[in-house]
Amino acid sequence: MITLHDKSFVPFISATEIATRVEELAAHFDALVSSNLQERNQPLLVLGILRGAVIFHSDLIRTCTANIEVEYLRTHSYKGLKSTGKVSIDVPPSFDVKDRHVVIVEDIVDSGLTLKTLVDLLLTKGATKVTTIVLLDKKDARTTPFTPTLVGFDIPDLFVVGYGLDYNGLGRNLPSIYQLSEL
Ligand code: XMP
Ligand code: MG
Repeated sequence: MITLHDKSFVPFISATEIATRVEELAAHFDALVSSNLQERNQPLLVLGILRGAVIFHSDLIRTCTANIEVEYLRTHSYKGLKSTGKVSIDVPPSFDVKDRHVVIVEDIVDSGLTLKTLVDLLLTKGATKVTTIVLLDKKDARTTPFTPTLVGFDIPDLFVVGYGLDYNGLGRNLPSIYQLSEL
């Protein structure tokens, strides 16, 4: 059991289980990278969502030695343990996805609002294809219909931290994933 601020968290998904699943996802990721290179003769743009997905994104991209390009965008929606129901996305003026196949790598899909908003934004900006790879999927929490292309783990609708995910700024550095203790 660990304590972050005022809350206790219990072990949920171990670092070994995460590594095994990342290896499995890597096979699919590799297939995406190769088919994109063949079809478009252009590297895939692999977009990490700051800050929660940084560790998953960096583990996933390092499984691949083919040519890819890497970018990051920051989205905000969560405050403490809850989504605010609004998403903001910081897009730098130089951010260009026109005619690209973009793969979004995200830590978790919860209500679905962040990824739905982001995918729509990329398509509006001229991306030809958007694929989404998420480590964790809280299917029961969905309020905006959204189905990720690839999912690491389906999890119940309970707050989680670790492996990039935080509770009010703490917990991102933990190598495994912890779940909010219901005790
Ligand atoms: P939505 O609701 O837009 O949420 O699908 C996606 C974003 O909300 C954050 N989120 C979490 N962060 N533990 C966290 O540390 C959680 O259990 C959790 N659930 C959602 C996360 O930033 C994600 O990008
Ligand atoms: Mg996030």
